[in-house]
Amino acid sequence: MRMNGQNYRTIWPDSDGRRVHVIDQTRLPHHFETRALDNHLVVAAAIKDMVVRGAPLIGVTGAYGLALALSHDPSDLSLHKAHQTLLETRPTAVNLRWGLDRLRRIISTLPMEQRASAAFDEAGRIAEEDIASCEAIGEHGAQLIKDRAKNLRRPINILTHCNAGWLAAVDWGTALAPIYKAHRLGVDLHVWVDETRPRNQGASLTACELLGENVPHTVIVDNAGGHLMQHGLVDLVIVGSDRTTRTGDVCNKIGTYLKALAAYDNGVPFYAALPSSTIDWQMRDGVREITIEERDPREVTHISGRQSDGARVEIELTPAGSRARNFGFDVTPARLVTGIITERGVSAAQEEALINLFPEYA
Ligand code: MRU
Repeated sequence: MRMNGQNYRTIWPDSDGRRVHVIDQTRLPHHFETRALDNHLVVAAAIKDMVVRGAPLIGVTGAYGLALALSHDPSDLSLHKAHQTLLETRPTAVNLRWGLDRLRRIISTLPMEQRASAAFDEAGRIAEEDIASCEAIGEHGAQLIKDRAKNLRRPINILTHCNAGWLAAVDWGTALAPIYKAHRLGVDLHVWVDETRPRNQGASLTACELLGENVPHTVIVDNAGGHLMQHGLVDLVIVGSDRTTRTGDVCNKIGTYLKALAAYDNGVPFYAALPSSTIDWQMRDGVREITIEERDPREVTHISGRQSDGARVEIELTPAGSRARNFGFDVTPARLVTGIITERGVSAAQEEALINLFPEYA
């Protein structure tokens, strides 16, 4: 997608398979910088420190990380250790395990001399498949937006939380893909962007993406959504997901559940858009079974941004003696989810409906 008038993907390998390049998302929106990652430990740090983030993107980055490890040492021990190190970086998004397991399954049967190049090829295939899935999600979701916008004599207002756009995937994104597609089809739309404390992925990344694609949007504080819904200012909510159970429980960035509750109370349709790589077919009860990442409390007690002279600063928000905790995600139970937009179409948030779309997981 476009940023500063140029088309980008979030991740791309060198042609000789020695390095993988990514956009440093900790520097956005004020600085556009790329980073070259040349071994799996650097990749693991980039995932942990959220240089790259978003469920589909960490799945693809993890796969490239494993490929880099194999290019240094193709042994079974190296494969095992790198898989472990990368998997431990972030616990909630299932795409990471999905990407790493897929690569390991294929590579472990190959002779040593073929492993590194086969791993790079497979990581590339995962990236291409992600783009195709996100684009298909965009097409299915755009239809839904068009239908909903049909009888409105004003822009359709869509609320989104966190960043589930192309920066969270390889291209297009999940929740934002339907918005980009509908916008390109000429649907008159406007996006409410939750700032998404504590790391502000909405204010910094979603706003930056929407600006790059000239999509009308307004950034709001996280707690404004319910108020807007009560006043008829939200027609549709679309969020992404980091892990969705086979029964349709949706785990996404902290605060998503509260948006779903407000949407339910106000009769606003609430959709999650996700590729099937985000569905954990082994899980049925999201609230009980999904591990919720807890990050450094400093992300809550401090905030960073750009000063008027352009310098980046971090400031303290809370009294030094106050304790803070930083829960990264929450689970929205399926009963609050109107539908799930996948690469194969829109499904009810129910096991039977999801299995109808993905019968191979019956
Ligand atoms: O902590 P992050 O920034 O990785 O969290 C990202 C989200 O919660 C996204 O909504 C989710 O990964 C869906 S991505 C298309």
